[in-house]
Amino acid sequence: MPASIVVGLQWGDEGKGKTTDFLAEQVAMVVRYQGGDNAGHTVVKGDEVLKLHLVPSGVLYPHITSVIGNGVVVNPETLIGELDMLMSRGIDVSRVRVSRAAHVIMPYHVALDRANEARLDGAKVGTTGRGIGPTYGDRAWRVGLRMEDLLDKAVLRTRLARLLPDKNLLLGSMGAEPFEVEALVEKAAGWGVRLADHLDDTTWLVQAALARGEHVLLEGAQGTLLDLDHGSYPFVTSSNAVAGGATTGGGIGPLQVDEVMGVMKAYATRVGSGPFPTELLDEIGEGIRERGHEVGTTTGRPRRVGWFDAVPIRYAVAVNSVSSIMLNKLDILSGLESIPLCVAYEVDGARVERWPSSAEVLGRAKPVYEWFDGWAEPIHDVRSLAGLPENARRYVTAVEELAGVPIVLVSVGPERTQTIERAWRPMRRRQAAGLV
Ligand code: GDP
Ligand code: IMO
Ligand code: MG
Repeated sequence: MPASIVVGLQWGDEGKGKTTDFLAEQVAMVVRYQGGDNAGHTVVKGDEVLKLHLVPSGVLYPHITSVIGNGVVVNPETLIGELDMLMSRGIDVSRVRVSRAAHVIMPYHVALDRANEARLDGAKVGTTGRGIGPTYGDRAWRVGLRMEDLLDKAVLRTRLARLLPDKNLLLGSMGAEPFEVEALVEKAAGWGVRLADHLDDTTWLVQAALARGEHVLLEGAQGTLLDLDHGSYPFVTSSNAVAGGATTGGGIGPLQVDEVMGVMKAYATRVGSGPFPTELLDEIGEGIRERGHEVGTTTGRPRRVGWFDAVPIRYAVAVNSVSSIMLNKLDILSGLESIPLCVAYEVDGARVERWPSSAEVLGRAKPVYEWFDGWAEPIHDVRSLAGLPENARRYVTAVEELAGVPIVLVSVGPERTQTIERAWRPMRRRQAAGLV
């Protein structure tokens, strides 16, 4: 039984939480493969609204094993808080497994992230201030701490004694407070005690599930346009959000994946700095922001809003080998008179159809739009494509043609059931139909 990947095709917040929750019913295990608590994934079931930063979005189902993979950077305090929150809501967290090899976001990483952003001033990336960059930086520099290190005070003491002088020097140069070895050792060891029962060799956990014939879903955080390699560097996050990141960060091989579901919304948003060619700075954008509740789940910052941009989507489809798409938040466009779709850019007088990941080039890109008539009626209760207003159908068809991949699910509201399922091969029916 193969694995499926859920990946964001835009700048994050495409509704990966809703998509993962929707698909999770059909699988045995959901694995987060990268990012950290910079992510904020929302799951809505009936009146219950769950905002998750680290625990995978399948956790509401009692049958799911939730795995935080080796590619994730874990702030233990956030994780403990999230586990407590889930338990207080009566959700069983005993099946939340955390990779022993996942790197730990330490308090000095958070302090470095914030102090560095303050220093960048006008050139800020607009990070979430969660210590993501410094933690992945230390991982690459081989000076990071991994979750398993939290279980051994002697290891913690040796490593921190070696590390902290450098960190404190840097923090001091940025006007930030230093950290003290023994206090950090105690704090980190306390996290270790609390999280010990959740730590596991998650690669073997995932591999064993696949060997048993169970279906594994890998949930990405952020989106392709924030990917460290494929986004508009340096206005990106510090991990590989693309589907390739699911193999390194989730403990699977490329041939174990048989479906990559790209998630995108019917318009675009971006949090933080960086070029955004279709950005709306007028009252139409304000209206979409309000109707779509486009406020950062993690930071509470208002999200920048713009029209759907097909130029990076074509790139995202290619680089992720997207095999199917879920289009979210179509309902938010109800009531607009006309809806432009960006099909190309004009850069320095020339038409450009390939996404230039260079932030400088993108900064000069002017969108070339095709215009579509809007529809007035709310569509929250529609459950089939045929039931959509004709103009909404036309819009979905145009987006699908531009993406070049079938849109198999269309979301018309935040709740799990507010979803249009098109005729496709839903994962739960594959085995029965002998398709795998
Ligand atoms: P993620 O980071 O990709 O999981 O996305 P977020 O959870 O940060 O942001 C998506 C927001 O849109 C959440 O508040 C969802 O509950 C909500 N949402 C998802 N799909 C839909 C939809 O089809 N319609 C509406 N109105 N809201 C949606
Ligand atoms: P989900 O998983 C939207 C953005 C930040 C900033 C850049 C770098 O909910 O889609 P970082 O803190 O990662 O070093 O910040 O990335 N960013 C996100 N934007 N959704 C997210 O996650 C994001 N995670 C990071 O705003 O521009
Ligand atoms: Mg989010």
